[in-house]
Amino acid sequence: MFECEFRMNNQPPAPRRIEPIPAQRAASLEGDALRAVEEICSRLSSLPGALLPILHAVQERLGYVPAEAVAVLAQELNLSRAEVHGVISFYHYFRTQRPGRHVVHVCRAEACQALGAVALERHAKRSLGVEFHATTADGAISLEPVYCLGNCALGPSVMVDERLEGRVTAARFDELVAQAREAG
Ligand code: FES
Repeated sequence: MFECEFRMNNQPPAPRRIEPIPAQRAASLEGDALRAVEEICSRLSSLPGALLPILHAVQERLGYVPAEAVAVLAQELNLSRAEVHGVISFYHYFRTQRPGRHVVHVCRAEACQALGAVALERHAKRSLGVEFHATTADGAISLEPVYCLGNCALGPSVMVDERLEGRVTAARFDELVAQAREAG
């Protein structure tokens, strides 16, 4: 669903500023995370354009793409660290910080915007007290933008973890967040 923001929106997403790689975090990936990244690379690295499917698989497994994984991926795929980092930075979907216990995606694409997504986005940020790509202070909710969830006729659309909701009002948004918090 998130694989290609170009395809879903017919427009490229606004490019994100490419952040410099923090030297101390590029040092090493260890333990279970390292084993997960290596296993994913061994399984998918022969695919054409392997970096994107590998990044998706890493985020699916770990919940995010750790900054320390950049060096491992670069080595496994024979790319420069700057190339790997550039792809991670470009796609909004990839997170480089460990997410909260629940992830709330708010659709920002055009069809949802025409149905009230701008106001909903404002409400979501105010209600949670965070901007996009951030997690609430209690670690419960990460707020993320997404560029189409394939639910355009029923916007504004929101996805809470794996649950897709349409026609989301501010009140419904708060209910969904409360339900997620109750779930743990
Ligand atoms: S524009 Fe398609 S789900 Fe929001």
